[in-house]
Amino acid sequence: MGIKYFEESQTFKLDACDSSYVFRIFMGELPLHLYYGKKIDDISVQDMFDKGPDNGATITLADLKHPNFKMAVAPMEFSGNGTADFRHTSISIENSLGNSVTDMRYKDYKITKGKPKIKGLPSLYADEADCETLELILYDKVTGAEAHVFYTVFENYSVITRSVKVVNPTDDDMYIENIMSCTVDLPFADLDMVSLYGRANKERSICTEPLRHGVSSVESRFGASSHYQNPFVALKKKNASEDFGEVYGFNLVYSGNFLMEAEVDAYNCTRFQAGINPHDFKWKLEAGDEFSAPEVVMVYSDNGLGQMSRTFHSLYRNHLIPRKWKTAPRPLLINSWEAAYFNINTKKILDFAASAKELGIEMIVVDDGWFGCRNNDSSSLGDWFAFEEKFPNGLGELIDGVHAMGMKFGLWFEPEMISEDSELFRAHPDWYLHIEGRKASTGRKQYVLDMTRDEVVDNIWTQIDTLLKKHPFDYIKWDFNRNLSEVGSASLPKDRQKEVYHRFILGTYKLMGRLTENYPDLLLENCASGGGRFDAGILSFSPQIWCSDCTDAIERLTIQTGTSLCYPISTMGSHVSDSKRTSFKNKGNVAQFGTFGYELDPLKMTEEEREEVKIQVAEYHKYHDIIANGDFYRLINPEDSTFRTAWMSVSQDKTKAVVLSAVMRTPPYSTFILRLKGLDSSKKYRRSDNGIVYSGSTLMNAGINLSRQSLADGTSELIYFEEI
Ligand code: DGJ
Repeated sequence: MGIKYFEESQTFKLDACDSSYVFRIFMGELPLHLYYGKKIDDISVQDMFDKGPDNGATITLADLKHPNFKMAVAPMEFSGNGTADFRHTSISIENSLGNSVTDMRYKDYKITKGKPKIKGLPSLYADEADCETLELILYDKVTGAEAHVFYTVFENYSVITRSVKVVNPTDDDMYIENIMSCTVDLPFADLDMVSLYGRANKERSICTEPLRHGVSSVESRFGASSHYQNPFVALKKKNASEDFGEVYGFNLVYSGNFLMEAEVDAYNCTRFQAGINPHDFKWKLEAGDEFSAPEVVMVYSDNGLGQMSRTFHSLYRNHLIPRKWKTAPRPLLINSWEAAYFNINTKKILDFAASAKELGIEMIVVDDGWFGCRNNDSSSLGDWFAFEEKFPNGLGELIDGVHAMGMKFGLWFEPEMISEDSELFRAHPDWYLHIEGRKASTGRKQYVLDMTRDEVVDNIWTQIDTLLKKHPFDYIKWDFNRNLSEVGSASLPKDRQKEVYHRFILGTYKLMGRLTENYPDLLLENCASGGGRFDAGILSFSPQIWCSDCTDAIERLTIQTGTSLCYPISTMGSHVSDSKRTSFKNKGNVAQFGTFGYELDPLKMTEEEREEVKIQVAEYHKYHDIIANGDFYRLINPEDSTFRTAWMSVSQDKTKAVVLSAVMRTPPYSTFILRLKGLDSSKKYRRSDNGIVYSGSTLMNAGINLSRQSLADGTSELIYFEEI
């Protein structure tokens, strides 16, 4: 299997499919990193820590003296704080003497089959046959604190996951000030950092910047992974591109405040780290306690960003999203939000459902406005019972009515929020995040519930569970419409207030976990003012996440391309809406590369549009499995100067493929040859729009001539290829 320990040199070699990762225990004490990259056959990389002659002043470690070892620049596997490593480090623990010197030395290791769970946190799952895990146990000789560093090595993916558990086996309390989930010291710096930035309605645009001496970072301090920067980074070699060259991809399985950073030192070496953002974080670790830091997924690709993405996609489809939804088809839905906003009632929704059913739509989702006394966004969050005025006979009449039509039914919730004008707030006025003596800011006129408290989690759970028990429905849209501010909990003591950001997300995970464990057949879709919490933590509960409230198909090309760098196409919530800029056909074509659904009033559609929906629904049934479960290729990125985007999905057995060729803005030239990717060169494929048969080699090397494709702004073609 993938993990080998070489006793004599105390070297660990981790082989994950086509990649290798090597480190050694130096002089029996310090874990030093030696190699991460394409698979190598041996461990003759022992001297990789040696940074050569140096005239500058470097401090030698007091106890480990070796002529070639300089702590300040040594590639560390897990670096301590306040020793002689002056870079950003893996861990910092304030001890009972009040200083934060933390010096982690080797104690022991264990190798086990499979992958352990992480207490309280989501993580990838795998069977024993899929992977092996190394637990490296380190300890601080002076304070006794321990760090258990976990590496899970996948057999069939170039993937290593990492996480850390900090243990306090002593009799004194300690405070964790910083704990990074991974530290990777690479002996080069000719790298670009690729990250995803954005804002509401423009989530996950791609940013590519060269690393510089000093620190380059992305982070969140919003209390959620956020619209603004996503917990994903790829470090790509300067010469790497979509299809060529080396790329290291990193993604945190975490939905709270995070930090991902790359520090280039004076020796042109790069230290990459990822973990919980140490900003406003301090965790009290009582005697005998342990603390788990979130998992980070590391993907190595030597075939560019494209292969990195395909590895993430396949890994997340098979080892992250709930097992039930790996392959089970998800119902094709219509959502009431953009059709009716708060203006809903039993009759209207039943009419929507009946009309949508005629078009082949399989589920109706009632969005915001069905609960408490909610007529606008100023009230009722926390009161998860039917609004009598709109649903006088309760939700039963509606849900049973929809089910009787042979359709499925879904409901919107915003479980982590509370309105001041709500029964919940009146009953529990201190259940929101706030700090005594300070006015708490509102966002969308609402407060954030104190999810650090078990009684809060229990209350919301009981409300949702009661509804689900009474009228079993099929789907929940879980929204989250504001970030955290004035972060404090009325239930925690002073020296635990800096735990609130992390405890908040642990509470959220607890509630989501309870929901998905008790209702494994319920489909959970997440959302956060669009795509403000699109991350791997959420995906472990929710196999799909609403990508963005921007449903304009031209903008969606950029949003979905950026999202595809790390996240599978099957996870991207994408609907055809009433947005005006482009044609119905174009909106459908773009939405097909996602979960696909509708977000409009079916009763207001023209006959022509209804006919188009029927075509789109048929296309969905024909293409969706290829798009959702196949291999995805970015043929043309929207940032390229062609004013076009082209995507392609190929079925796993390479017998079928779907290509989207979209014109964003009229290109200033007309010759357009599109080369396809990922096919079998020896197979023959028939092209759907002209019936011509091509060999895979022709399609991939010569391409197809799309020079006569419509050049109007915001138009697109879906072209289907099938082996003959
Ligand atoms: C924000 C979401 O992004 C929308 O899709 C919709 O659910 C609204 N919230 C409802 O308030």
